[in-house]
Amino acid sequence: MLGQELVQQMGRMPEYDVLATGRDSEPRFTGGSCGYTRLDITDEEALSRIFDDFEPNVVINCAAMTQVDDCESDREMCWKVNAEAVESLADLCKMHGTRLVHISTDFVFDGEEGPYREDARPNPVSYYGRSKLAGENHARAAGTDTWAIVRTVLVFGAPVQGARSNFVTWVRDKLAAGEPIRVVTDQWRTPTWVSDLADGIERIVRYRKSGVFHVSGREFLSVNQFAHCVAEVAGLDAALIGEADRTTFSQPAQRPEKTGFIILKAETEVGFKPHTLAEAIRQTLGIEPSRSSSSPPR
Ligand SMILES: NC(=O)c1ccc[n+]([C@@H]2O[C@H](COP(=O)([O-])OP(=O)(O)OC[C@H]3O[C@@H](n4cnc5c(N)ncnc54)[C@H](OP(=O)(O)O)[C@@H]3O)[C@@H](O)[C@H]2O)c1
Repeated sequence: MLGQELVQQMGRMPEYDVLATGRDSEPRFTGGSCGYTRLDITDEEALSRIFDDFEPNVVINCAAMTQVDDCESDREMCWKVNAEAVESLADLCKMHGTRLVHISTDFVFDGEEGPYREDARPNPVSYYGRSKLAGENHARAAGTDTWAIVRTVLVFGAPVQGARSNFVTWVRDKLAAGEPIRVVTDQWRTPTWVSDLADGIERIVRYRKSGVFHVSGREFLSVNQFAHCVAEVAGLDAALIGEADRTTFSQPAQRPEKTGFIILKAETEVGFKPHTLAEAIRQTLGIEPSRSSSSPPR
């Protein structure tokens, strides 16, 4: 999801010469000025060849095993992609003098004290979170001043070809079909529109920033409240949204309770300004401003 959005945004900017990579033999995007090469980031030789051929100034690592429950059941693959491959990437970045911008997650925190600042102490409660924290530590090894870690939270955006579905479109589809859903009240987040996230990352690249940055939306709310926002913006029946909590579903991975971010550093250091949640949902769902029930009354 994020990689596709970055390709769209940075591919349009003349100051960048973008090479996108993915596991498919053909790119999932069409048009634009980006090149594309097939790459499995766990393949060290292929990684090394790309550095030799393309000589990147900056690498933005969006690749990850992101399904939290799958990470519990396939720990080996999770560690390979989220931790070991980042170590190889960081080593190559160091060798080639390349800046590494590595994408990480709110799941490095235990959710006891969110929303979090960048200097809060990580304490993951899932294998996914542990693997991502290990990835962060490898990214730091790319060498002083040449790495940035961008942590983000509950990302949503318009579905792109081949991408997994995301929360906003899932809620819209279920409610539009008149199907009841149950959504957790005990997980609090600052949901992030993928377009804002890509903009924040591009700013960190443009201003050559180093260190850890929290890049997310501003609004801190439960996932259940987030579903209610979707219903309101889309003009759908919120009565179909029922409540659930951690005891409702049997999921292999534990989820942190209150994460979410304080984004002051990104706002002040790179001028990051996320859209309001209502506006981001509206744009994700392609709803005209006048059709949104959250627009001011006429
Ligand atoms: N989505 C969220 O809510 C969220 C929240 C916090 C942080 N993040 C972080 O944001 C970053 C981007 O995630 P996303 O939301 O864009 O997730 P995504 O849509 O699942 O994208 C992850 C991509 O990584 C690719 N990948 C996995 N293993 C690979 C490998 N060995 N070699 C090359 N590519 C590989 C996947 O390829 P395939 O399509 O071929 O499987 C997929 O396209 C990740 O670092 C994630 O941890 C996401």
